[in-house]
Amino acid sequence: MDLQLKTIAFALLILQVSSSVRAQSGVLDISKYGGATNGDISQAMIKAWNDACASTNPSKIVIPQGTFLLKQTEFKGPCTAPIEVQVDGTIQAPQDPNQFDGEAQWIKFTYVNFLTISGGGTFDGQGAIAWNQNDCAQNKICKKLSMNFGFGFLNNTVIRDITSKDSKNFHVNVLGCNNITFTNFNAIAPANSPNTDGIHIGRSTGVNITNSIFATGDDCISLGDGSKQVNVFNVKCGPGHGISVGSLGKYPEEEPVQDFSVKNCIINNTDNGVRIKTWPDTPGATTVTGMHFENIEMINVRNPIIIDQEYCPWNQCTKENPSKIKISQVSFKNITGTSGTKEGIVLLCSSGVPCEDVVLTDIDLKFNGTVASAVLSNVKPIIQGKSLSLSNTIPKVEL
Ligand SMILES: *[C@@H]1O[C@H](CO)[C@@H](O)[C@H](O)[C@H]1NC(C)=O
Ligand SMILES: *[C@@H]1O[C@H](CO)[C@@H](O)[C@H](O)[C@H]1NC(C)=O
Ligand SMILES: *[C@@H]1O[C@H](CO)[C@@H](O)[C@H](O)[C@H]1NC(C)=O
Ligand SMILES: *[C@@H]1O[C@H](CO)[C@@H](O)[C@H](O)[C@H]1NC(C)=O
Ligand SMILES: *[C@@H]1O[C@H](CO)[C@@H](O)[C@H](O)[C@H]1NC(C)=O
Ligand SMILES: *[C@@H]1O[C@H](CO)[C@@H](O)[C@H](O)[C@H]1NC(C)=O
Repeated sequence: MDLQLKTIAFALLILQVSSSVRAQSGVLDISKYGGATNGDISQAMIKAWNDACASTNPSKIVIPQGTFLLKQTEFKGPCTAPIEVQVDGTIQAPQDPNQFDGEAQWIKFTYVNFLTISGGGTFDGQGAIAWNQNDCAQNKICKKLSMNFGFGFLNNTVIRDITSKDSKNFHVNVLGCNNITFTNFNAIAPANSPNTDGIHIGRSTGVNITNSIFATGDDCISLGDGSKQVNVFNVKCGPGHGISVGSLGKYPEEEPVQDFSVKNCIINNTDNGVRIKTWPDTPGATTVTGMHFENIEMINVRNPIIIDQEYCPWNQCTKENPSKIKISQVSFKNITGTSGTKEGIVLLCSSGVPCEDVVLTDIDLKFNGTVASAVLSNVKPIIQGKSLSLSNTIPKVEL
């Protein structure tokens, strides 16, 4: 090789090494895409996402300290390599609900494999104006308000060290995902903000929620149909409406809910503790199986343990026919603390398909200093350990 060729070869090598180093480090700071503090970063985020998504090496999009505005945006895959979105600052949504189209979410991540959202930052839905316009309790065809996050069809995703604040509607909707973990994730909104559920899960397999805090105006965590292998561990819930399975049964083609475990949690000042609810007299006939609730401290919870197969808010249905949803393999173990009502344990199962294989172990709930009682119908639970609440049970015979 003559000198000139050698020089060219060397230069090419340098070029190759430097470009691969750049791709490997893959840090995409949105300030390099024109995203500025106190400004609208929508365009910068889309450009950074497009680069990250096309990268053959893992990449990380960084939103630094500071406050930023982001319009309704979808970050869509499939992408070639893992992507991390590190949010150090605060990202705010438009306040005006009219800046969102229909039912959609504010921020959507869809069809991605290996996504991580991290950084210690906050997503602020700025929901106060929207809550005032929410008339869904009275109006069946009310305007749909946007949720902070829509996670759709994601695999192997982690959301960690993130706060979702003041969403206009639910904080998070998880749909069609496999293996998604929320850890050190907080969903916060005032106790009187309507429909600000923490995380709603549907048609997803492998969802873990750990070391997290939910303080909202509605359910902390709720499971819709097709939720499988969901584990909630070391979570604080309250204020809010508790941890719920359902409501189920309203629609004919629902998928089963199976393998749900809630362990080592504190539920504080909520309407319900752990609840399974299904509609009576509706077409849905799916199954709920493998529900396990263990080591849960209830603090002033109105209905700490409740299965309600006659769930029918605002008289939207009749109770002429029983629920067709079969509930089985349910355990409540070491559930302690205080109930806000005398009947701390309510298991109202369907007369059409009674609950099966229900086990209550070490239940110790107090109401106003005395042992809380239980109301049971269409269920014959196995009672184990120190379950004082069940010694003064009044079995309810008729529905
Ligand atoms: C997620 O996993 C499912 C099931 O294996 C697969 O069908 C789907 O294509 C995957 N999605 C992505 C975005 O990788
Ligand atoms: C969720 O936690 C369970 C129990 O610790 C574990 O077996 C499972 O692999 C975890 N799933 C995910 C998606 O991390
Ligand atoms: C989910 O995680 C399990 C266990 O790690 C793995 O076997 C499975 O392939 C993952 N699912 C998808 C769709 O990647
Ligand atoms: C329960 O909630 C109240 C406020 O509603 C709070 O003062 C108290 O510290 C909470 N207890 C626990 C154990 O988190
Ligand atoms: C019962 O649950 C509480 C938390 O609510 C926990 O501190 C305690 O260790 C549990 N008891 C047993 C025997 O596991
Ligand atoms: C609570 O207990 C006290 C004293 O035992 C009693 O005077 C009071 O009426 C009880 N309150 C309720 C709501 O049952």
